[in-house]
Amino acid sequence: MKRLVVGNWKMNLGVGDAVALTRQVSTAAKGLKRTEAWVAPSFTSLSEVAQCASGTAVRVGAQNVHWEAKGAFTGEVSVPMVREVGCSFVIVGHSERRRVFFEPEGMVAKRSWAALSAGLTTIVCVGETLEEREKGRTNGVIETQLLPCISSLTSDMVSQLVIAYEPVWAIGTGKVASVSDIKDAHAYIAQLWSSVHKAIACPAILYGGSVTPENFAEILKVPLVNGGLVGGASLKSESFGQLLQIAEG
Ligand code: PGA
Repeated sequence: MKRLVVGNWKMNLGVGDAVALTRQVSTAAKGLKRTEAWVAPSFTSLSEVAQCASGTAVRVGAQNVHWEAKGAFTGEVSVPMVREVGCSFVIVGHSERRRVFFEPEGMVAKRSWAALSAGLTTIVCVGETLEEREKGRTNGVIETQLLPCISSLTSDMVSQLVIAYEPVWAIGTGKVASVSDIKDAHAYIAQLWSSVHKAIACPAILYGGSVTPENFAEILKVPLVNGGLVGGASLKSESFGQLLQIAEG
């Protein structure tokens, strides 16, 4: 399994800056053997970024997707739409969607199911808040968020799934989770996975939350960590390039 470094650009970078950064990331990704560079720009940049990335090693994805193909869903974008502009993956259930936009588990599962059943690679994000962690509810939260997304998947769908563990308190705060927190959470996700899909290997699990070139090597040593979902440090070509080099080893 290759290591993934996924840049989640959130609501940053206009078209020009996103294309410029994509060009730099594709140069940095040239010749990598065990690492893939993926970028998730805002919806308005997807088309140009995908054109820029075409023919390079960089994969382009959307930060969210709706479960219906079309219809009266103001503000939403569908799987065929993101496909049409060149996306090969989507992120669903990011904690900012869950917490800021109140997307419940069932809605995230519908998004994930629609994308996976259309054959689109899907990164499902899960993770607890600080309050939930302090109350000892980390595993329970992961279970509640993940189970609806991983139940009743066909093997084709499983092959397109990536899971990201992102403790909410570590996102954009500079507070990276400790190696032992990450180890426990990833092990729990793998255990949950095998309780549902006995014979099918667990998909890649990424860690996300204040990943930087300073802490990434340490994080990658943790068992069952297959890469990073990176916000802040993916917005600069220098740090993105460093992350790719670190993953490459
Ligand atoms: P961060 O964001 O790297 O800025 O903490 C990670 C994420 O939200 O995916």
